[in-house]
Amino acid sequence: MCGIIGYIGKRNAKDFLIEGLRRLEYRGYDSAGMAVMKDGRIFLTKAVGKVAELESKIRGDARQAMLGIAHTRWATHGKPSETNAHPHADCFGNLSLVHNGIVENYQELRDMLVGKGHRFVSETDSEVIAHLVEEELKSCEFEDAFTRALSALQGTYGVAMMGVSDPEKLFVARKGSPLVIGVGTDEYLVASDVSAMVGHVSKVIYLEDGEMAIIDLQGYRVKTLDHELLEKEEQILEWSQEQAQKGGHPHFMIKEILEQPKSFEDALRGRLLVEEGLAKLGGLMPVEERLRKIDRIVIASCGTSYHAGLAGEYMLEEYAGIPVEVEYASEFRYRKSLIDERTAVIALSQSGETADTLAAVREAKRKGALTLGVVNVVGSTIARETDAGIYNHAGPEVSVASTKAFTSQLAILALLTLYFGRMRGMSLVTGKRIAEGLRMLPSLIEKVAEQSEPIKKMAKKYQDTPHFLYLGRKYNMPIALEGALKIKEIAYVPAQGYPTGEMKHGPIALIDEQSLCLFIAPKDSVYEKSISGLEEIKARGGRVIVITTEGNEAIGGKADEVILIPKTLELLTPILSIIPLQLFAYHMSVAKGYDVDRPRNLAKSVTVE
Ligand code: AGP
Ligand code: GLU
Repeated sequence: MCGIIGYIGKRNAKDFLIEGLRRLEYRGYDSAGMAVMKDGRIFLTKAVGKVAELESKIRGDARQAMLGIAHTRWATHGKPSETNAHPHADCFGNLSLVHNGIVENYQELRDMLVGKGHRFVSETDSEVIAHLVEEELKSCEFEDAFTRALSALQGTYGVAMMGVSDPEKLFVARKGSPLVIGVGTDEYLVASDVSAMVGHVSKVIYLEDGEMAIIDLQGYRVKTLDHELLEKEEQILEWSQEQAQKGGHPHFMIKEILEQPKSFEDALRGRLLVEEGLAKLGGLMPVEERLRKIDRIVIASCGTSYHAGLAGEYMLEEYAGIPVEVEYASEFRYRKSLIDERTAVIALSQSGETADTLAAVREAKRKGALTLGVVNVVGSTIARETDAGIYNHAGPEVSVASTKAFTSQLAILALLTLYFGRMRGMSLVTGKRIAEGLRMLPSLIEKVAEQSEPIKKMAKKYQDTPHFLYLGRKYNMPIALEGALKIKEIAYVPAQGYPTGEMKHGPIALIDEQSLCLFIAPKDSVYEKSISGLEEIKARGGRVIVITTEGNEAIGGKADEVILIPKTLELLTPILSIIPLQLFAYHMSVAKGYDVDRPRNLAKSVTVE
């Protein structure tokens, strides 16, 4: 997600704000801005693009300010633009706010405030917070106005705010998006993560969800939103800056693998109506009537996103009753695909800039199809050129190997299955069952990811294996392909993914004592069939790691290693079965000493054909 910086102290706020933004650049962003308080007035500067753009705008501004806030934006609501960049203000520029997160109920709050005469200037959800505080200030002091406004929000926030009514105070709060207070000598820093304050402060306080703080030159006071004063432990800051940017993890990839419970939850946020068994997809509202008339879906994507599409095909066909074809975007654009105005073409793309996928979107539009984008980067080309779409809200994915974006795509494909299914005869009972299954998943993802250490041991044990075969059936066939891609792209080992049933049509010739098969076989509708394949491999001396459902320990006698995943609905098992394969590839790459986050020959976004 984006980055927040705040400063209050004896030195020049601007210096700290710019340096802090630079240190948060790794988090990924599309625009930046800052506001400083000087002589009881707020001075605001914003820029689209890099922090350097912002810095060039303030160069030469000699104003020394002791209080300021700054922000790098990762857009979720409203395209990247100077107007949408933070900080955001109230109607009269007496308040300034930076926000990290998503305000789910921003539309109804905005409508209420407009009804009271407030004038909004941006398309963002965040701006509503500034106007809410402005409205509350009509009847109480700043601290109360701040907490009342926050209490009205649904969703997530990390906020820093200042106002001309309290020109020597910084107000911060946290719910779902991290915020840290750094304690210096006669100065205090606030940031989304400690990398922005390494070297400037020696002690930090981590705010917890539901906590707020008022910071001035005399110190800081941490409270609940009910103004109950809290005693917080000051922790010694020992990380290097590099460590801090990765949250203490050695690589972005492992950080992103372990972020999946949260990124999955963010993909579902505000979109799942469990009691009604429905998916609420605001991004599709403009084309809802056309979507009711479609008679087939084509999913065009590349790489990992293509594999997500394959899993989506099983979901949509089984539970929404829509014919689906999944195409490599690089193939789709050249073949004579029979699509028309009753076809929906879905482009899955984390970056939203993949040239082949963009070309497929343009080809589909030329043929009159309805194009939908499932994209992580807001305002990216594919997001702008498709007729409608759904954002992942997975936050920036820095590592070249896609992990949290993949499971986020599966979340959205499951939401689309619910969306189309309930439009086309899926029962309330089935809808509720799928919705409930999705709601439970973040905690199950967490549970699978806790197996990182035993999987690390397996990766070391098999690190000299010359070739790998990944096998899965039905919903987990795409996971076999994705698992093979992961280990290929970051551990540079020959690996093939195949449908389990296809093994005897050729790949079984590869099996020998040197080979290692990763067998994805949860207790699902095709489990018995899958297990016979495992025995065929063992009969030929092959080694097998099997991924199966908790409680199915009996399979241990047949396999060399067993990795257990929690029970969930069959169509949701891919979201869990991919986690061990991501970890296996990651630990294999580390064991081999490779550059996990920047594997050779690969780019994070392939913007060339
Ligand atoms: C996956 O780990 C790779 N980085 C690559 O296959 C990637 O999925 C592919 O290039 C598609 O990228 P996109 O999702 O940004 O379109
Ligand atoms: N939802 C806010 C926006 O789109 C903040 C996004 C972020 O965390 O950067 O501006």
